[in-house]
Amino acid sequence: SIKKLAMIGCGSMGGGMALLFASKGIHVSLQDPSVEAMDTIIASAEKSTDVPASMLSKHADYESLCNSLEKPKVFVWSLPHGSVGDGVLEKLMPFLEKGDVIIDCGNEHWQNTERRQGKCVVRGIRYVGCGVSGGYQAARRGPSMCPGADDETLPLVLPTLRKVAAKDPDGKPCVGRVGTGGAGHYCKMIHNGIEHGMMSAITEAFGIMKVGLDMSLDDIGDVFEQWNAKGELEGTFLVWISRDICRTEDPETGERVLDSVEDKVVQDYTGEEGTGIWSNTEAVERHVPAPTLTTAHYIRLASGDRRQRAKIQAAFGVGSGKPNDEHTSVFPPQKLEGVADRAAFLEDLRMAVYTACLAAYCQGMIIIEKADKDYHFNIDYAELIQVWKAGCIIQADYISNRLLAPLYAQQSASNFSANPLYHKDVTGDLKRGVPHLRSVVAKSIGADQVVPALSATLEYLKYQTSTDLPTSFYEAQLDYFGKHMFDRKGDDVEGAPMTGKHHFEWKAA
Ligand code: 6PG
Repeated sequence: SIKKLAMIGCGSMGGGMALLFASKGIHVSLQDPSVEAMDTIIASAEKSTDVPASMLSKHADYESLCNSLEKPKVFVWSLPHGSVGDGVLEKLMPFLEKGDVIIDCGNEHWQNTERRQGKCVVRGIRYVGCGVSGGYQAARRGPSMCPGADDETLPLVLPTLRKVAAKDPDGKPCVGRVGTGGAGHYCKMIHNGIEHGMMSAITEAFGIMKVGLDMSLDDIGDVFEQWNAKGELEGTFLVWISRDICRTEDPETGERVLDSVEDKVVQDYTGEEGTGIWSNTEAVERHVPAPTLTTAHYIRLASGDRRQRAKIQAAFGVGSGKPNDEHTSVFPPQKLEGVADRAAFLEDLRMAVYTACLAAYCQGMIIIEKADKDYHFNIDYAELIQVWKAGCIIQADYISNRLLAPLYAQQSASNFSANPLYHKDVTGDLKRGVPHLRSVVAKSIGADQVVPALSATLEYLKYQTSTDLPTSFYEAQLDYFGKHMFDRKGDDVEGAPMTGKHHFEWKAA
């Protein structure tokens, strides 16, 4: 087993993981361009009760770093994606030898991972693309880890990763063989897409409770606590932290911190994008409708540029156009109408949020299933669900324990499909959720509440389950101007080409 490793990248995630490895008796050699970052980790070890500072050393260059390791050398990376990792690999390469292992724990794009795996394999170097989830606190305590690499490499690193990964309530580590090549980073990217779909659904529920029901932050916090305690949203990390977000006070002012937070979810726009954008472009490129994920990202993009929103608002005749002047809306959300029984409506809202979260999971899994076929990842679905059982941001105990784990335990069955929408337990829950979702969306739309992910989920469930859509008309339009070709009713049978066979010279008399 691994006794020494190098941590390259000592930010909050790398720092947390360095301390975690060291707490498990593994010596960690730190490397980061910032000496301060390395010193902060060593100071945390000195203050801690579980990490002797002697288990850490800091290194100014790769030569000294590599000299501090045993053969084969093991490197854990916690770096920003893209060019940073490429630069590190280039500089590290002269010091690498056959058998050395790199475990890339950043949010890297899976294609960068596969490109680097190709570069490394010719020199006998092993490169694992390992998605790590749970944020900086989990990095220290035990994150959810999603590794992908060839089947000879993974067994070399899994025993060590099992020591540090989050454990589910049965004590089973949330790490395993997810798939080959860039599969680990691919699944982590989709994890983040699902994460944003869930975050938007919960955020929308917050808005409905705050303005639509005129509830206080304390009351909303109580609702989130109840949702997380039992039922379909039980053990949902994002619902749990929502409770804290409602209740947290700034000790200096005594005010709720949330009240001071501006309404913009900024996404870096540096040309190298990130998991939120990649997961959505992947969905479209794989021809998988994933509207819960995609719409969540759209509101994030719109929210991020608050200055633009202010200018557009002014062009609509509201406000001064200056982002700091006011907090207002062209179509201001109102109190909901027709809520005679608040408890019954809150139950609708709980089920609406659950339905959107489950739909987000389903959409994510369908993207992964398609990618598995297209890119030959050889995904182990049961392991993937195990990875997401604890420690990660999309942890949702009911969804994983009651629905997805039993489903993916059947992976070896001959007629198995990884598409959750082919499985009755999942579709039964979605069907049960729709009346609640419909009621929430209808009331919300009537009151101009902002409900992009909830409404997109409802639409998705309508069109994804229908074989009688109005899209005959869409097809006819395409055939009219583009000779697109269409199938006549009855043509669409298994085995026949999916594309249409008929064209008509459309002209009305
Ligand atoms: C996690 C999170 C984490 C985070 C990313 C994405 O699983 O711990 O997904 O990876 O959310 O930093 O942030 P952006 O969406 O801002 O790129």
